[in-house]
Formats: sequence, structure tokens, C-alpha cells
Amino acid sequence: MLAIGIEGTAHTVGLGIVDGACHVLANVYDMVKPEKGGIHPREAANHHAEMVVPLIRKAADIAGIDLQDLDLVAFSQGPGLGPCLRTVATAARALALSLDIPILGVNHCVAHLEIGRGVTEAKDPVLLYVSGGNTQVIAFARGRYRVFGETLDIGVGNMLDKFARECGLPFPGGPILEKLARDGKRLLSLPYSVKGMDVAFSGMLTAALALQKQGATMEDLAFSIQEVAFAMLTEVTERAMAHLDNEEVLLGGGVARNGRLQEMVARMATDRGARMFVPPGDLCIDNGAMIAWTGLQMHRGGVRMKLAETLVDQRYRTDEVPVTWR
Ligand code: ATP
Ligand code: FE2
Repeated sequence: MLAIGIEGTAHTVGLGIVDGACHVLANVYDMVKPEKGGIHPREAANHHAEMVVPLIRKAADIAGIDLQDLDLVAFSQGPGLGPCLRTVATAARALALSLDIPILGVNHCVAHLEIGRGVTEAKDPVLLYVSGGNTQVIAFARGRYRVFGETLDIGVGNMLDKFARECGLPFPGGPILEKLARDGKRLLSLPYSVKGMDVAFSGMLTAALALQKQGATMEDLAFSIQEVAFAMLTEVTERAMAHLDNEEVLLGGGVARNGRLQEMVARMATDRGARMFVPPGDLCIDNGAMIAWTGLQMHRGGVRMKLAETLVDQRYRTDEVPVTWR
């Protein structure tokens, strides 16, 4: 079976074509880059509307297929920004209707986990899903993907991006801070907010901005933010692994590309005799391939959707999805 997946929960519209053995035949995307400030949902949706058709053609070209060869259309049904979700859902419905093939709405967070299981050797991992909008520790238990811990305020990537933006750096700030952090020399004091299994980042953002105004160097700030934020994430991930007696940890989301985060989680995993898995970078960030692959899995698990069931859900929870394919 061949599926096409359309991702569009936030700033990225992505198209992926994947076969039944999780071979990624195409994975193309385009990201809105706001000139100033954060992303505006309506502007991002307009961007997605403009880009989605050319990206469908590009994906088919790269995969070397005809659109008629497709067996399934999958799209990101939520969680995400309403206008963006509605735009890609409309595109997905039009494509499925014109090709007369089934359509499935996919939970974006579940897709981050499924693509990791598809392309790495991880079988039943604890997922540390760290992106701009989301920060969750997820694992499979009793027929669902359960959220074991999450951010109580903003996503870790959002914190990195906002800090960078306030300091005059372009979007996305995460990768720039990673480079600056390599030259950091001093560990500055920042709030370490772990509450049970949850984390919080807005206090760290405020504190880091205050230190910047007091003259701390960007290198030291970037270094300290990474050390403290990633230690918090590593701690809650380890606690989930200990509770579940689980020996696999999978990273997902854009922040999973960060070398220092990978290093810290790998160290934790090795210390407990566990293994860490990281998908290739273009499958960590928001992408269409993960949506296509999860759609295929759902279809295999007997999930079918009528058009009326393809309404988007901005607050689609990870644990709302009955996981019938495992
Ligand atoms: P979601 O919709 O799942 O919340 P997202 O819209 O934030 O995702 P992603 O592409 O998964 O999109 O992640 C983007 C985030 O990843 C940005 O916050 C960016 O700063 C961060 N990021 C990317 N590379 C790095 C890196 N090397 N180090 C730290 N952060 C990074
Ligand atoms: Fe994501």
C-alpha cells in the first residue's frame, strides 16, 4: 500500500509518501518564516494553501509515482492551529475524493512516535517528544499512547525560540542557541522546574531574559538554558522509564535534533542499561512522512473514517486515540 501524508499543524506544511514497509519515498516541506514576531495562524494557513498543491506534485515526482498509484490519504487532524489544520484537512479531502481513496485523520503526536518505531529499531519506546508547541513524555499502555509527563506552560522549543527572538536572533532560535552554547563557559542559575512528571519553562525564559539585561553573555545564557532545560527533560523521561520498566527511549520533535539533548538522554539511557533511538532529522521535525506512515498503520488496524469524521481538533489529545494497530 502507498499512502500520502499531509502535515500542517503549525508553521510547516509537509508532504510525505510512504509504503507499507515504512520506506519513505518522498518527504518534502515548506516552512513559514515570519519576518517579525511569532507565527500568525491565518498567515501560516495561507502559506499552506499556496504550497500544498505544488508540494503534492513535488512529492509524487520524487517518489516516481502517479497520484493514481496512491491507496490512502492521511492528514494531521490535530492538535495544532485551527486555520492551518482546516487548510490541510480541506486539501486532504479534495485529494481523497478526486482519487476516490480512503482518508484518515492522524494525531500529530502519535505520528511522531510511530515514525520513530517505523524507522529505528525501537519497539515499545518511551518517547520524549520535544518541539516548539509540544513537550510530552509518551508511552504505550493498555491500548493507548499515554502522556506520562508534559509541559505545564510552553513547549521547550517555544521557550528557546522566544528567548532567541527577544535577544534579536532570527527564527528558529533553537539551532542558533545550540551553536552559541558550545562556547558557553559559566553555568548561570536558572529555575529548574520539575513538578512530579511535569516540567515548566516560562519561569526559565523570564529569568534568562533578566540575566541577559544584566549583561550575561549569549554563549553562557545559551549554555545554561540548554543544561537546565535538558536536565529537566532527561529527569522526567528517566522517571517514566523507571516506572514502566522500559529499556528504550525514542526522541522526536524538532528539539530532538539538538546534540546536547541527545548526549544527555543517551548518557541516562546507558547508565540504566537502556537504548536511545533518534530518527533522522527530517523525520524528527514536523513532516508528512510520519502522517502517511501512521495513516497506514491505522488502516492496517481497521480504522476507517467517513468525511464527516475528518473534522479537525485543535486540542486532539494523544490518549484519545484508540491504538488498534498494536
Ligand atoms: P509541533 O507542531 O509539534 O509543536 P513545531 O511546530 O514546533 O512542532 P518542529 O519542526 O517539530 O515544529 O520543531 C521546531 C522546533 O525545534 C523549534 O522550536 C526549533 O527552535 C527547534 N529546534 C530545531 N533544531 C533545534 C536544535 N538543533 N536545537 C534546539 N532546538 C531545535
Ligand atoms: Fe510536531
